[in-house]
Amino acid sequence: MTRDATDSQGQRSANTRLDIARALTHVVGHRRTIEWVRAERPQWLQSSLHSELLYGTLRHYLSLTAAIQKHLKRPLKKKDLDLQNLLLVGAYQLQHTAVADYAAINECVDACRGLGKPWAKGLVNGVLRALQRQERIEPATEALAERDHPEWLRILLHRQYGKNALELMEANNRRAPMTLRINQIATRPDVFKQRLKNANIPFTDGPWEETVTLLEPQVAADLPGWTQGECAVQDQAAQHAAHLIISALRQKNPNASPIKVLDACAAPGGKLFHVREALTQEHIAHYLFALDNKATRLQELSEIATRLGHATHAHADGSTPRTESIGLICADGCATDLPFPDPFDVILIDAPCSGSGTIRRNPDIRMLLSQKVLLEHQVLQRQLLQNLWQRLMPGGTLVYSTCSVFSEENDQVIQSFLGSTADALVVRPSFATGRATQHGWQLLPTEPLTDGFYYCVLEKGRHYTKANSP
Ligand SMILES: C[S@@+](CC[C@H](N)C(=O)[O-])C[C@H]1O[C@@H](n2cnc3c(N)ncnc32)[C@H](O)[C@@H]1O
Repeated sequence: MTRDATDSQGQRSANTRLDIARALTHVVGHRRTIEWVRAERPQWLQSSLHSELLYGTLRHYLSLTAAIQKHLKRPLKKKDLDLQNLLLVGAYQLQHTAVADYAAINECVDACRGLGKPWAKGLVNGVLRALQRQERIEPATEALAERDHPEWLRILLHRQYGKNALELMEANNRRAPMTLRINQIATRPDVFKQRLKNANIPFTDGPWEETVTLLEPQVAADLPGWTQGECAVQDQAAQHAAHLIISALRQKNPNASPIKVLDACAAPGGKLFHVREALTQEHIAHYLFALDNKATRLQELSEIATRLGHATHAHADGSTPRTESIGLICADGCATDLPFPDPFDVILIDAPCSGSGTIRRNPDIRMLLSQKVLLEHQVLQRQLLQNLWQRLMPGGTLVYSTCSVFSEENDQVIQSFLGSTADALVVRPSFATGRATQHGWQLLPTEPLTDGFYYCVLEKGRHYTKANSP
């Protein structure tokens, strides 16, 4: 086996740039996600430099591509996508990082051999030296942000956000903050915050007592209390789900018998565990169920549950619900034969979506998403909503959410649902940041502390007509 063949199966090379050129080729060439790289090729993301280079190059992939093309006599062939990616890693370091130019260039030149293309050393050296003579780029400028988004995405953002589209694209080019949710079953917020202070980890508080945002991102596993399950990483926007559910329940004055709650798209469980912690905090007795159609993701959910100290069990048709443990079900939320005899008081549909509100966190999305995929999501979202609505009891609350900024996955889904559902009433949420939409609320990454998230709250009654809906 040649060295290259070994490496292409995922061995870590001694050259970080080579690892990243390969990772980029999997993302851009084979349409894999960063999540796939993390799971299947962890050695390519094993150091902070690896992460910086992969995320950064993907963030600026399009503008960097234009920059290197100016210095190529002719475009590289398709089969040399790995070489192009190597050039982009080099260009990213020269234009956007403090890595010493000589280190960036020499490592990229050396990596040609690892790609099995030693003939390209002169070319890589020449292009990167030419770029070295150019000025460094300020990542958050308007023009750069435009150039870092594919055309279809720019058009859609301009269509939906008008003059704010640019601001959104700039936000997509920034780094996301690291927000934690303190697990109030495992510890008290004041105790955990003191532990952060003792560890010299600066943070800002709120908006809820269990929420802290770190001023500098940290390695999660090194945080105080991590192993004991005292905290989880969760964006502020995502933390609204549990609070919406609690405020809906407060208005209903739940009685002593346990309420039934379904998280219908649950894995890996961020919102589910927050709901569990919040219901427990409020002393609301409950049966909690977590549904997801992917067994591997449910497995990941149960591992996280174990760290956080939340008991789980496999829920089977006909089995008695348990208040002390979350029932896990691997099934399609669009199926009509889901194993629940009784309707639910609360259903959360955190629908599969484009993730367009999390581009700053997941820069691969801008390279992988297409308008076609957006519309495929819409079809699934509508089916999930239609089907799971049948499982909600009259008077019950359904929270629909996505981490998308596009109305195709948000208001348009709700609009078509309301058009065919007589017993649904929209209860509009209102948050401190973001904006009201026709049927819900849109949080945006232009507010530095939230990803782009959409929430719509629907109540089920017997007497509602379309006239009740806005
Ligand atoms: C946005 S993620 C959920 C994130 C999760 N709520 C959290 O806070 O960690 C959407 C989830 O929906 C699941 N999913 C996709 N299609 C589904 C379907 N037809 N039925 C049930 N779950 C589905 C995916 O596997 C994915 O785990």
